[in-house]
Amino acid sequence: MCGIIGFVGREQQAAPILLDGLQRMEYRGYDSAGVAVRSESKGLQVKKTKGRLQVLSDMIHGGADLEGTVGIGHTRWATHGEPSDLNAHPHVSEDGRIALVHNGIIENYLELREHLQKQGVRFSSDTDSEVVAHLLELHYNECGNMMEAVGRVLRRIRGSYALGIICADYPNTLIAARKDSPLILGFSGEGNFIASDVTAMLRYTRDVVYMDDGEIAVLTAEGIDVFDSELTPVEKEHHQVDWDVSAAEKGGYPHFMFKEILEQPEAIRKTVQPRIRDGRVVLEGLSMTAAEARDISRVFIIACGSSYHVGMLSKYVWERLLRRPVEVTLASEFRYCDPLVDEKSLVVVISQSGETLDTMAAMREAKRLGGRTLAIVNVVGSSIAREADDVLYTWAGPEVAVATTKAYSTQLVLMDLIGLYLGDLLGTVAPEEYSAILTEMQLLPQKLEQVLGQTEHIQYLASRYFNHHSIFFIGRNLDYAMGMEGSLKLKEISYIHSEAYAAGELKHGTISLIEPGTLVVALGTYGPLFDKAMSNVVEVKARGAEVLGLATEPLRDRMEKTADAVIAVPETHPLLQPSLGVVPLQLFAYYVALHRGCDIDKPRNLAKSVTVE
Ligand code: F6R
Repeated sequence: MCGIIGFVGREQQAAPILLDGLQRMEYRGYDSAGVAVRSESKGLQVKKTKGRLQVLSDMIHGGADLEGTVGIGHTRWATHGEPSDLNAHPHVSEDGRIALVHNGIIENYLELREHLQKQGVRFSSDTDSEVVAHLLELHYNECGNMMEAVGRVLRRIRGSYALGIICADYPNTLIAARKDSPLILGFSGEGNFIASDVTAMLRYTRDVVYMDDGEIAVLTAEGIDVFDSELTPVEKEHHQVDWDVSAAEKGGYPHFMFKEILEQPEAIRKTVQPRIRDGRVVLEGLSMTAAEARDISRVFIIACGSSYHVGMLSKYVWERLLRRPVEVTLASEFRYCDPLVDEKSLVVVISQSGETLDTMAAMREAKRLGGRTLAIVNVVGSSIAREADDVLYTWAGPEVAVATTKAYSTQLVLMDLIGLYLGDLLGTVAPEEYSAILTEMQLLPQKLEQVLGQTEHIQYLASRYFNHHSIFFIGRNLDYAMGMEGSLKLKEISYIHSEAYAAGELKHGTISLIEPGTLVVALGTYGPLFDKAMSNVVEVKARGAEVLGLATEPLRDRMEKTADAVIAVPETHPLLQPSLGVVPLQLFAYYVALHRGCDIDKPRNLAKSVTVE
């Protein structure tokens, strides 16, 4: 999705800092990039282009061509209008005095555009964002005050926005505004920042303020003033970002995805360890009392993509531990399905970024219906984290690769921990099972290291299978839900068509797609249903499928009797087994994509955080 960076400094030139910030947001996915910088002698200078950031950087010689200590930068992911030089941001008013960058969607842009065109305004792009630049010029000419003009324009536009604005008449001033699209303010001795993603400014500052909806900020090198929509000053709380700068850098690894796969043992340790004290789960951030827990009649889990797959796994785990019905719904469907949420519903929303618009909107709907919301989020201070009734963070650190790995894994263990905690509150989990799961959970990092020790074997298997056109993942129960993630990983980065099926469902239709040579990844890590799963493996084998089996170590031999190749993972508690089983599937997808020469960290058409509906 689009990325915004803005900087206003004392002496430091803005353009190189903007390029650096944009480069750190490249992972979000984009198709064009641009910057605008203002200086006393040269006024507003705007450079933008379709394509990679490197093209922009070469065009302005790493920023050296643009003079000025205040500027804005943008990477665009096209929504309104194709990727092109003209549609790239910043957009500029007709008189060339105002430049802006915009994330989000201006929903009433067509009507505003027509209105402005009737007044003779000429547009140079197809974007919704450009209307804001022209409206600003109009209102600025009327009132002669940029801040007032911004306030007036915000009252005319509908939709979502994070805006960064500079004006030739305002030396060393940057104006920002936010509604339903993230924007963070950063404070440093050298100058001050705006960014849509904290990683863009992490190199310069950790001292941040999260803007709230409807707020406007005025930045100079000396400080930042924040106002509400009525232009009344507001006091904001400062936060310290504790993410490690190096965690958002590749550090010698070929891809972020590979680095993040390898970081999983540590990420899981960080998510789990501080939450276990004296053999009990302690969840700071979850304010629910035992009486409130007993009042829950039903649990809803809402999420998108991989986070949804965590929800699918958690349904099996929570229903067993809580003895309450758990419904898992895609966030994009939830809003429009007239959900049966009420005051007795616990609504868990899972989101790595905390900015996914579908998930955010679904959470708001759940709140409106009276549900109690609990967010599982990785990005501290993100919109979902701030709006939920309770938030628990997955302490995975920054995740840069578009395809999630360590965020998924930490979501999963955190959901297991919460399930255990609530099961204990409700008295629905037996003390022996509680202890057994907790003990095994603490052993997960070291068992994961053993899984990662098989990287070479998985790389070899990928070299054997990377030419397949269609791959099926089959499994039962937790293995089925885990297969959904394995299948998504594979298709999103290697572009191979892939499907996940409940193994028992194959014979009801899908088995007709199995022909000699079709690759089936048979997931048999869920011990209680291993035999049943194997009978389905035999069915596909009988139709000529090539089978790559995944089993636990104790069941390896049995899997080897039927499958053509096998990956084995250490055994753990059956409910935790997917935390180990999913990692070979991530590695398999990674190496298959590598063999196929795909752009692993930035798969085509995808973006890291999806802030459009
Ligand atoms: C897939 C992937 C996506 C995200 C989905 C939700 O690898 O990363 O499917 O899981 O877009 O994103 P979040 O968790 O940020 O809400």
